[in-house]
Amino acid sequence: MGIIYQESTKEFHLYNRETSYLMKILRNGQIGQLYFGKRVPLKEDYGYLLENRYRPASAYVYDNEYSFSLEHLKQEYPSYGTTDFRMPALEILQPNGSRITDFCYHSHKIYQGKPALQGLPATYTESPGEADTLEILLKDERLNIEMTLLYTIFQTENAIARSVRFENKGECACQLTRAMSLSLDLPDADYEWIQFSGAWSRERYVKTRLLQQGVQSVGSVRGASSHHHNPFIMLKRPKADEFQGETLGFSLVYSGNFLAQAEVDTYNVTRVMLGIHPLGFSWLLEPGGAFQTPEAVAVYSAHGMNGMSQAFHRLYRTRLARGYWRDRERPILLNNWEATYFDFTKEKLLAIAKTAKEDGVELFVLDDGWFGSRCSETSGLGDWWPNPQRLPEGICGLSKEIEAMGLKFGLWFELEMVNKDSELYRNHPDWILQTPGRHASHGRKQYVLDFSRKEVVDYIYGLVAKILKESKISYIKWDMNRNITECFSQGYGAERQGEIFHRYILGLYDLYDRLNREFPEILFESCASGGGRFDPGLLYYAPQCWTSDDTDAVERQKIQYGTSYAYPVSSMGTHVSITPNHQANRTTPLETRGNVAMFGAFGYELDLARLSQEEREIVREQIRFVKKYRRLIHTGDFYRLLSPFEGNFTAWMAVSPDKRQAIVGYYKILNDVNREFRRLRLQGLEEGLLYHVWENGACAGDFYGSELMHIGLIATDSSAGEVGATETPCCDFWSRLLVLEAEG
Ligand code: DGJ
Repeated sequence: MGIIYQESTKEFHLYNRETSYLMKILRNGQIGQLYFGKRVPLKEDYGYLLENRYRPASAYVYDNEYSFSLEHLKQEYPSYGTTDFRMPALEILQPNGSRITDFCYHSHKIYQGKPALQGLPATYTESPGEADTLEILLKDERLNIEMTLLYTIFQTENAIARSVRFENKGECACQLTRAMSLSLDLPDADYEWIQFSGAWSRERYVKTRLLQQGVQSVGSVRGASSHHHNPFIMLKRPKADEFQGETLGFSLVYSGNFLAQAEVDTYNVTRVMLGIHPLGFSWLLEPGGAFQTPEAVAVYSAHGMNGMSQAFHRLYRTRLARGYWRDRERPILLNNWEATYFDFTKEKLLAIAKTAKEDGVELFVLDDGWFGSRCSETSGLGDWWPNPQRLPEGICGLSKEIEAMGLKFGLWFELEMVNKDSELYRNHPDWILQTPGRHASHGRKQYVLDFSRKEVVDYIYGLVAKILKESKISYIKWDMNRNITECFSQGYGAERQGEIFHRYILGLYDLYDRLNREFPEILFESCASGGGRFDPGLLYYAPQCWTSDDTDAVERQKIQYGTSYAYPVSSMGTHVSITPNHQANRTTPLETRGNVAMFGAFGYELDLARLSQEEREIVREQIRFVKKYRRLIHTGDFYRLLSPFEGNFTAWMAVSPDKRQAIVGYYKILNDVNREFRRLRLQGLEEGLLYHVWENGACAGDFYGSELMHIGLIATDSSAGEVGATETPCCDFWSRLLVLEAEG
């Protein structure tokens, strides 16, 4: 059991092989935070870590005493206004207008395994011994509201999952206006804060700054986790790097509005928080009502950022992603979007699919434009039946023809949206999110369906399920191309309007869940104008996500590198597209486009018939390679080696769990001349094993793991001299792909 409660000192110790998490029931019944970090011994008394001495406070809890104030105490789930002046984890608006609460320890439970969170995605266990759970029940006696702090510490993975549940056992309705999933007070502020921010086509760029006194935060109030900030942050010691030093990662398993924040007080205590963004949020806790926050996951790594990432990768790949496709090799797909956009006929699609099949593709995906009156972005969303002009035999007929070619068939949907020019909107104009009496803003000429209402979700489910039952569909790309404005639901009264953003996400999860259950063998790939909803919440329903609309091989190095901090390689949709690239207008070698896309759920986004015969041969070789090595790339330990955010090179590698095989990707942005000899130090290999290193099918030498890790792989290229004068000139946007295989 990885959770101990010391009755004598009222301390909880959660631990696994690498981490300890210590808490204590405080004198006033609230829960104090003692320590989160590298594993320390099981000991009865860690109370000295409260460090409540010497420092004067501006307000004290007990009459005639100057010893107990929450102002300087490190806490687990703090509230505002009872001697703590920092940002609180919770806030409850009560009938008398007060927001003061006092949740005190009542009891706790410790058990093996992990409970599911109703209606919400969450990490899970497959056998009870994989994790231990602690539930601490606190009560506000005056309101008769119960608050349960849930903690699960994984034994097989180095991670702690947290969430909070509120239940109103009282007589009065209250409004929960803030309910973070995680709050954690750390004793100092000697950290760099790292966030993953960007925009459409440059998602999850790595942004670093030193923590400062005051509040720093990222978040989203767009109704989706967003392109702009990811619900994931890291705190790392300034001297920590990819391979050593303390790194903390905090991730929210949620797809909607979020806040990730660190508040450093004047004594350099750091309060980290993660949860639903409080802006505009409220939840009516009626008598008998309850609220469950989304789950947050925290990882402590003593082995730098790669150590932290690998913990998230394993957990999210094997204990967040679920179902039929979790452990299966992902099909190599070809998507028609950039090949045709809206301009296609059935014949054109079949021709594209036929060429794809010839080259070894396994799955053909029909993107936007197949349904209703959809011939451009102005109409049709919501009418999920095939357009008879374009597809005379419907999706049913097309999917059968594609399957007859020996390919699987996949289909695009954007289920949360409607165009005004659609039957759905004409019949149900009140089914969009819009504020009565106010203008409703559009995005891409589309409006957001009110997924907080069950009848709307039911209607959409009915349409999709019909197509999926009638046709042979193996894959769904689930897109979402705008953010929510004028958020208001006509299905709820005034007192529940603060719930709509969250209820929308619950409706989204419900639809995913129903489709997952009804069609368990369909592979779902989530998407939101590229990577606008790349978050752990959706990985629970869709094990892969379209990483970005930007498929340029140079841009993608940054996007995939940034995404890899929290998310496994298997979760990143990565495609080779045509050049000049449609987003960046850049021309890169086909080999490099492939070598970048191979570190993901691989596919093509082009009509292969438009390539030359030589290029087709390169494509065939790429496909052969991916088929041979995709399991290793998806399930191996992923190491970031060189950062595209720091220089002209990117490098990463995947190492098989038994360390006998590895694949290295090495990328150069701009070519150079007469430059230094270069070495690339590899990671994660077995020191004493002899590896054959293969490049382009030829053996490039035999080296011991220790040589490759400590001396490094020779990465010198022809730019060490006069590039053009050599037999093997390298060029701008050049890359190498190396396979390491242990001898014997
Ligand atoms: C945005 C997606 O990111 C693209 O891949 C494509 O599916 C379009 N939407 C279709 O409208």
